Amino acid sequence: MSDAGSRRDRVHVRAPGKINLFLGVGPIDGDGYHALSTVFQAVSLYEDVIATAADDFSLTVSGVADPSTVPLDDRNLAMRAAKVLAAATGYDGGVHLEIRKSVPVAGGMGGGSADAAAALVACNELWRTGLGHDRLHELGARLGADVPFALTGGTAVGTGRGDVLTAALARGRYEWVLITDEDGLSTPEVYRAYDVARAEEDRVYADSPLDPFDVPPSFFEALLTGDAEALAPCLSNQLEAGAFRLRPALEGTIERGVAAGALAGIVSGSGPTIALLCTDAVAADRVAERLRSTGRTALRAHGPVRGAQVVDEGR
Ligand code: C5P
Repeated sequence: MSDAGSRRDRVHVRAPGKINLFLGVGPIDGDGYHALSTVFQAVSLYEDVIATAADDFSLTVSGVADPSTVPLDDRNLAMRAAKVLAAATGYDGGVHLEIRKSVPVAGGMGGGSADAAAALVACNELWRTGLGHDRLHELGARLGADVPFALTGGTAVGTGRGDVLTAALARGRYEWVLITDEDGLSTPEVYRAYDVARAEEDRVYADSPLDPFDVPPSFFEALLTGDAEALAPCLSNQLEAGAFRLRPALEGTIERGVAAGALAGIVSGSGPTIALLCTDAVAADRVAERLRSTGRTALRAHGPVRGAQVVDEGR
């Protein structure tokens, strides 16, 4: 059939960005990764990846203000994802990947991980390599700690490096305002700054242990209510200590978001995007408008949404 034929030549996949509603940071393992206890929520800012049949591997990117911030070679996680899938399945052709970005670059929302997840799903479909979810998850975890969640979506607890996922029982739809910052932060640098901040705190609080990094039971109770007002006081990100150290102005940005009417705000992942939780969509639109009138870039999103999905382009 011509329909099936055209689908083989071009596959469009959409994958979501994420917010860490809770992020607890634990000890470092032998590879320099921190043990994490995190709750992810996939939100309605998406990366679109369109994979087209080709003999070799190539990439184009659109949707970014400064194209030089996104590499087009093997440093690009989507390119690596395609090559990892080809190697794992013995596929000997290539692919052209067109990436349309909407998730802030180096913003702490997992945009690069969403690209990798979308590229895995798109190439698996395009090449008819037929890997199931578990194998794609395994390949994704090799590419980056947040890639498995971009495949899964929804609301999920992540342990290990953040790549061991368990679906979380969550109700409702949460309305977010995201304050972006064009000047991104490097995730490894934020973790290093966190280690320094943590070592200082350990000296200061030597007699009384700091908060454990596990997700507290009260967090899951709040998620079950489906009520933003119950969840707001539970939002927490220990990695903020690293982001604040590198970018002290972020603390004031959160305060301004709350002053504009948000229930609470946190640094998203390693930052510098600030995620503001609002009572409902009307309140969130108002908060975003107020922040825009002060010259900030404020995006609207809701969560949870699904993980990487093939988009039916109606052909
Ligand atoms: O896995 P990903 O490439 O996203 O991680 C980027 C960097 O962030 C790692 O090289 C590491 O320095 C830091 N990281 C960490 N612990 C984690 C996840 C990431 O220290 N659980």
